Amino acid sequence: MKDNKENKAIFDTQLLPAFDSEKDKNNIDYAAQLIKDGQLVVFPTETVYGIGANALNEEAVLKIFEAKGRPQDNPLIVHIASMEELYPLVREVSSVAKKLAEAFWPGALTMIFPRSEKIPARVSAGLDTVAVRMPSHPVSKALIIASGVPLAAPSANRSGSPSPTLAKHALDDLNGRVPLILDGGGTEVGLESTVISFENGIPKILRPGGITPEQIREVAGNVVVESKITPSAQQAPAYSPGLKYKHYTPKAQVVLLRGTAEEFATYCKEHCQPGDWAMAFEEDLPLLTTIPSMSYGHHNDVREQGRELFSVLRALDDKEAKRVLVHAPTPKGVGLAVYDRLLRAASFKEIQL
Ligand code: TXA
Ligand code: MG
Repeated sequence: MKDNKENKAIFDTQLLPAFDSEKDKNNIDYAAQLIKDGQLVVFPTETVYGIGANALNEEAVLKIFEAKGRPQDNPLIVHIASMEELYPLVREVSSVAKKLAEAFWPGALTMIFPRSEKIPARVSAGLDTVAVRMPSHPVSKALIIASGVPLAAPSANRSGSPSPTLAKHALDDLNGRVPLILDGGGTEVGLESTVISFENGIPKILRPGGITPEQIREVAGNVVVESKITPSAQQAPAYSPGLKYKHYTPKAQVVLLRGTAEEFATYCKEHCQPGDWAMAFEEDLPLLTTIPSMSYGHHNDVREQGRELFSVLRALDDKEAKRVLVHAPTPKGVGLAVYDRLLRAASFKEIQL
């Protein structure tokens, strides 16, 4: 580690393979040693890459905020590998939370609990609660077990930009800011976890994600979608502090358009300016003859759209797109999370064609 003029840590960031928790055990053990030493490690999860530190070490956690350029009032998710690890971190686990954990852990669900004293206030940005998730990716699990501590880990992007779904995305954002990135290839879900809190025993979705409202309702009997995915969402109270910040934004301006394939193609034809790109469904591409375009999946495959979304937004930045005209997804199932990210990227504006 060296120090630059601003006294910020500069690392020669190492990229090591971690595709297989058995074969790449040495690299995972090395990463675990860094965690024990209070350092940061970027690691793959099934949702997006995370930038992890020992959740019980306040100084290590502070490094996450510095490396990401993250506002201090935006709390982190704590990652665990087994149910027993949950109890010391929280004051209470309700029966509905237990049912949801049984159904969806390990997996893309984050639950908010009353925080125990074991969790430093900085992890939760001073809130009385803590967000906990048990990831299903074998490398996340192996890293948590080898470290012997829960990992506080936000998405491994610089604050504000799209979450990383490849190790390369994390390297582009955090090169020189972290000592190690474990490369586990492309992430399966491609969108961050669903974040829920509880109100009178009813799960409330603060951030839609890989686990859908329908799936939660099936297990809990009820669900409230709190995340106000409407044009007025910006003015809504910030129940989940992270939701008030600008998010998922590529450098290009994002314009979200809802309509049929024909309406979308016509809009592109009539409004296309130099530097514009279309981000559309596979089926739209043959109609988009007047504008360069990229697909983010098939129209009816919302899981594919979720997997591709952030990667395509980053690819459009690489193309130096000035403006991206996006064909809006159907906000059902995982599509609700895809839509949520795009609406935020488009500053909550959607044009009805
Ligand atoms: O899939 C994911 O959740 C990824 C991977 C790495 O696990 N992590 C992730 O973390 O997306 P992050 O920090 O980018 O997003 C965490 C979200 C933020 O919107 C934050 O405000 C919210 O969870 N959050 C964390 N703790 C909270 C709390 N105690 N109460 C309410 N919201 C909370
Ligand atoms: Mg994030």
